[in-house]
Amino acid sequence: MRILGIETSADDTGVALIEADGTFGADFNFKVLGNAVASQSVHASYGGIFPAIAKREHAKNLVPTLEKVLREAKALEAGAASNVAHVRELLVREPEIFEHLDAFLKKYDPPEVDAIAVTVGPGLEPCLWTGINLARVLADVWDIPVVGVNHMEGHLIMSMMEIRSPSSGAMMNFDYPALALLVSGGHTELILMKALGEYQYIGRTRDDAAGEAFDKIARMLELPYPGGPAIARLAAEAREKNLPSDIKLPRPMLNEDNFDFSFSGLKTAVLRLLESDWQGKTLPLEIKAEIAREVEDTITEVLVEKTVHAAEEYGVSAVIMSGGVSANSHIRSELTARLQAASCQMLVCPPEFSTDNGLMIALSGYFYALNKEFAEPSALTANGQLKLG
Ligand code: KG4
Ligand code: ZN
Repeated sequence: MRILGIETSADDTGVALIEADGTFGADFNFKVLGNAVASQSVHASYGGIFPAIAKREHAKNLVPTLEKVLREAKALEAGAASNVAHVRELLVREPEIFEHLDAFLKKYDPPEVDAIAVTVGPGLEPCLWTGINLARVLADVWDIPVVGVNHMEGHLIMSMMEIRSPSSGAMMNFDYPALALLVSGGHTELILMKALGEYQYIGRTRDDAAGEAFDKIARMLELPYPGGPAIARLAAEAREKNLPSDIKLPRPMLNEDNFDFSFSGLKTAVLRLLESDWQGKTLPLEIKAEIAREVEDTITEVLVEKTVHAAEEYGVSAVIMSGGVSANSHIRSELTARLQAASCQMLVCPPEFSTDNGLMIALSGYFYALNKEFAEPSALTANGQLKLG
């Protein structure tokens, strides 16, 4: 089955076309026919995502990204789609998407695609709607079915894949229940996964998500958005130079007997440190790097300890780490080492697929399309707070 994935939940416009085969298990395999992500650099200097700007950027990037992916997949042939007259009506609220799409549909024949998968939540609703509106129109014009995908399930399924070559992969072999650690800009959760669609939340952040902590602290240190990679780079420098440091941050909730997290105190602690020692002064790069290392160490220690403890308590033999923060190489290597020592399998996708992309949505959507769990296009709705299961 050929499935097109569309992702617009935050600030990355992701589109991918895959050819997939098999069921939700070790017989599953796929080929990536086309894959592209347009990342919005406009947010870098603001230190966070502005939903209205992000929405506008998605509207601008969506159809060019779609065209790029379909061209890469050699799925485009010059021609004319049969009936595009009503597209204007369908996209009355999305004039910019309409402009691009109208020209696109008039240029090409319908490509060979069996179903469309689109993120419906969680995320920023104005952004989600741009992807949903595009998916609805394509489903209508190309006369193919559409599935709504949960963004976090997309991340999770992405991490279950073994990438065998740059453009193909399969599902890894592991036992259920598995423990999922979802760590992104908006989520920090420990979830017991019993089967596809069957989830039990066992812990979550009570305030900021891990990615949010990276982003907010990066902003305090005058580092660009997204903060995670910026802090990771500086932290790596500090480790490499082996800078001595007496900076010590609190490890929130580390020793509490539960699987919840709290990261907002970390941000406050960094703020206090900056105010007490560096108010009105220029923060030297070496101190910035020391703080970055301590921030990364703190977040790593809390995530690793809680995850390993939960894996033991629930007796799982596999942990799946996913979401943008799982791109962090320090967290990946620390968690891998600890799980290895506990004879527990660690599943995580290559870092380039950890942050938002269309491939994870195509993969996740495939399994629902296989079960014919299609949505009525006009009933697809953005749900910013969508939960798993
Ligand atoms: O999954 P994602 O791309 O978008 C959401 O669904 O939120 O995750 C984005 C988050 C941001 O907070 C970003 O700072 C963080 O992931 N992130 C990282 C790294 N790369 C991205 N955090 C730590 N280290 C990284 N290398
Ligand atoms: Zn994400």
